[in-house]
Amino acid sequence: MCGIIGYIGKKTNIQKQLIDSLKTLEYRGYDSAGIAYVTDKVNIIKSKGKIANLEEKIDREEQGCLGIAHTRWATHGGASDNNSHPHRVGKVTIVHNGIIENYMEIKSLLEKEGYKFKTETDTEVACALLDYLKSKNIWNNLEVIREFAGYIKGSYALGIIFDDDLDTLYATRKDSPLIIGLGKDENLIASDVSAVLKFTKKYCLLDNYDIVKLTKEKVQIYNKDLKSVCKEQLEVNWNVEQAEKNGYDHFMLKEIHEEAKVLKDTINEYVENLDSFVDKMPDMRKYDKIHIVACGSAMHAGLIGKYLFENYPEIETTVEVASEYRYKKVFYDDKTLVILISQSGETADTIASLRKAKEDHIDTLAIVNVVSSTIAREADQVLYIRAGVEIAVATTKAYLLQVAMLMLINLKLMVEREKIDSSKLKEILKLLKSSPEYVEKVLADEKKYFKIAEKIYKDEDIFFIGRGIDYAMSMEGSLKLKEVSYIHSEAYQAGELKHGTISLIENHTKVIALMTDEDLALKTISNIKEVKARGADVILITTEKLDSDFEFVNEKVTLPKVDSYLIPILAIIPLQLIAYQVAKLRKCDIDKPRNLAKSVTVE
Ligand code: G6P
Repeated sequence: MCGIIGYIGKKTNIQKQLIDSLKTLEYRGYDSAGIAYVTDKVNIIKSKGKIANLEEKIDREEQGCLGIAHTRWATHGGASDNNSHPHRVGKVTIVHNGIIENYMEIKSLLEKEGYKFKTETDTEVACALLDYLKSKNIWNNLEVIREFAGYIKGSYALGIIFDDDLDTLYATRKDSPLIIGLGKDENLIASDVSAVLKFTKKYCLLDNYDIVKLTKEKVQIYNKDLKSVCKEQLEVNWNVEQAEKNGYDHFMLKEIHEEAKVLKDTINEYVENLDSFVDKMPDMRKYDKIHIVACGSAMHAGLIGKYLFENYPEIETTVEVASEYRYKKVFYDDKTLVILISQSGETADTIASLRKAKEDHIDTLAIVNVVSSTIAREADQVLYIRAGVEIAVATTKAYLLQVAMLMLINLKLMVEREKIDSSKLKEILKLLKSSPEYVEKVLADEKKYFKIAEKIYKDEDIFFIGRGIDYAMSMEGSLKLKEVSYIHSEAYQAGELKHGTISLIENHTKVIALMTDEDLALKTISNIKEVKARGADVILITTEKLDSDFEFVNEKVTLPKVDSYLIPILAIIPLQLIAYQVAKLRKCDIDKPRNLAKSVTVE
């Protein structure tokens, strides 16, 4: 989703600096890009499409030491040169991430004041509003930004250049992420820390309505009443190299291959030993109901959580998509725990769901990757997964860790509900500690998955089926495939297919069947036979224990012999690698699939 970078400082080849920084935000997903930089005036260059298009238009040596830049993910108005940011109206130039919900209302107010609009964007309206407030000549620039906040419904992170103060970079935010990079003789604003890493590892976070004034030497932050505020200085604990491909063709592949390592980091943090595990996990004794709320893959991880929580500690669990949960009638009380899952910690709908629960005084627990992100800061409790930076838009390692974290929560619930004794707990914790070895084993069969990819990459419809937890994993397998390869794919509960969707199965339709649940295996076999009888080519993912000489499958992946408790973190790996290879064979833009964004900061 939209990415912002702003720079003021000692470096003088400003266009090059902005472009290089924008490239580090590319992973967020975008469809146009632009920069504004100051010489003796404000200059704007923008372009539809990739940053490479913009790069062709710039002069890497031109002098200037203040600028703002933007990657746009279109919301209001299509992707075009004209609609891309920065926008300039009168004496104000801005880049914006977020959505101004009442922009039509503000637009008509400004039209009455004589403003004419050249684009279809809400951002141009925001820019005109700032210019209009400025033109009243009663407020200084900080006050203009404060007044602006009073007009706006919606979300924004803004980088602002005022023509009457070309030595200063201004910024503000509400409900859209923006951080301040604190360098030596240079300071920055950015949507996330990855964009400032090549300048500095030091940064601070902004709260809603904060207003910032940056010069080369100084960062001044004010709250909404324009009182000067101090922020804690934070330091990034990963480096630029970790955000590079390290010889892999794509970040997605690199990140899948990091799964064993990040799993180890996460498990070791929470499972040093039995006692520390019990202490490190939240106390959940008072809850009799759990709501898991998330979006995309994080929601699919939640489906695994539901299966675990209901089957082992036997606690009623619902999983909801955050964009629905935030607006629906929710039945919860003080015995309900709302678990929010989010890799980025900045997904707008998940944040809104968290705030809804908090407003209703319901306890919240977040499972987050990005430290100090909005969800991590606002939830009552947070459990961090240690995925490190994840660049590929389609999540892989973070999803796997979300599942692992739900397994840990599940164990803690079992302890609290006396569904497990201490020797069994020890055994499972030991098993979890050894899980990275099994992940390595599954990864080692990569070539086998790539061969399967070769058999399916020309298809245009691929179905996934499974029952119980296998259905939950199918959902993620199917999403991964369609996200990166653009093949139409659907996941179905294996028993449900015959209630309609089976009409789509014809000769050689590919069906990927997951069968890892021992209790449901026979039922799944019957469903596989149903599609086989209609001509489907079946690819089976199963476990060594369930494996047999199935004459009805065309291809088979057998997971290593392991306790069934570990299966959810293993079974997804072949599906991720098949999706990756299919996308590669189809020559797709694997790390930045069309129309998708890594962090969805608008609703
Ligand atoms: C986007 C990403 C998905 C991700 C979802 C939720 O759609 O492309 O990979 O699962 O957002 O993101 P979150 O950061 O909240 O986990």
